[in-house]
Amino acid sequence: MIFYFSATGNSRWVAMTLAEKLHTDVYKITASSGYPRMFHLKENESVGFVFPVHAWGPPENLLSFITSLRFSSDPSFLYFVCTCGDDAGKTADVFCRFLYKQGWKCASGYSVIMPNTYVCLPGFDVDPLAVEQRKREKAREETERLAERIREKRNEFCCHEGSFPRLKTYVLRPLFKKFLMSPSKFHVTDACISCGVCENTCPLQNIHLTDGKPHWDDHCVMCLACYHHCPKHAIAYGRQTAKKGQYLFKKP
Ligand SMILES: Cc1cc2nc3c(=O)[nH]c(=O)nc-3n(C[C@H](O)[C@H](O)[C@H](O)COP(=O)(O)O)c2cc1C
Ligand code: SF4
Ligand code: SF4
Repeated sequence: MIFYFSATGNSRWVAMTLAEKLHTDVYKITASSGYPRMFHLKENESVGFVFPVHAWGPPENLLSFITSLRFSSDPSFLYFVCTCGDDAGKTADVFCRFLYKQGWKCASGYSVIMPNTYVCLPGFDVDPLAVEQRKREKAREETERLAERIREKRNEFCCHEGSFPRLKTYVLRPLFKKFLMSPSKFHVTDACISCGVCENTCPLQNIHLTDGKPHWDDHCVMCLACYHHCPKHAIAYGRQTAKKGQYLFKKP
């Protein structure tokens, strides 16, 4: 059984690829999946979580979803695969500790480097096309390799932490959450055609169209699904995204 969260498709593709190779079911995490739910596990069934790295840690909505998860029996093997544009920092530590508090032991964890989606700070943009293609190609090989390791139920953690992982996860991440998670800087430009894609795409149901224009509520996790899915590139975050690109997953 695999649970996944994905804003622009990278983690979704990893989850689907693993599910196909491991012959298991896959569940999408959405706003409405946050209520207590009981999942029936078959004998010796593994449970996996696939998600994007958000500020060198797991996305907040994934953690709140996990608090509502119930299984018919203890998972025999619990693992995660995170996708990141560059590096995951101490995501594994944060996630494993969180699972431990829920009474579960995470046995293995991996990261897969994929095209970057974060664009809301100076110096951060989507990858050039050649980099995007190269990352996707490598991700395909890596995900196939991971499926084998997960099937073998290896106890191992292979995450690309990058440089200064502690500083990023334990110092910069809390600052990011405090100052850069607010949806108040989202606005829409004159290019908006009132199509409603942003409203329908937001996995947290945080956007509502009023008089044909999107308005952001305050339970945003900054996944940027709205920004990247807008067909007119009409969504902006302050002045930071003026010249930034958009990205949606394409099959390698
Ligand atoms: C809010 C936010 C924060 C991010 N933080 C990181 C990060 O700390 N490290 C990293 O390598 N990539 C980071 N990224 C990039 C994503 O983790 C990466 O592109 C991921 O594959 C997106 O997956 P998705 O398409 O399933 O949403 C961030 C993206 C967003 C939207
Ligand atoms: S997706 Fe873009 S064009 Fe469509 S309503 Fe939202 S902001 Fe407007
Ligand atoms: S409003 Fe946009 S950034 Fe915030 S949760 Fe919804 S899709 Fe993600």
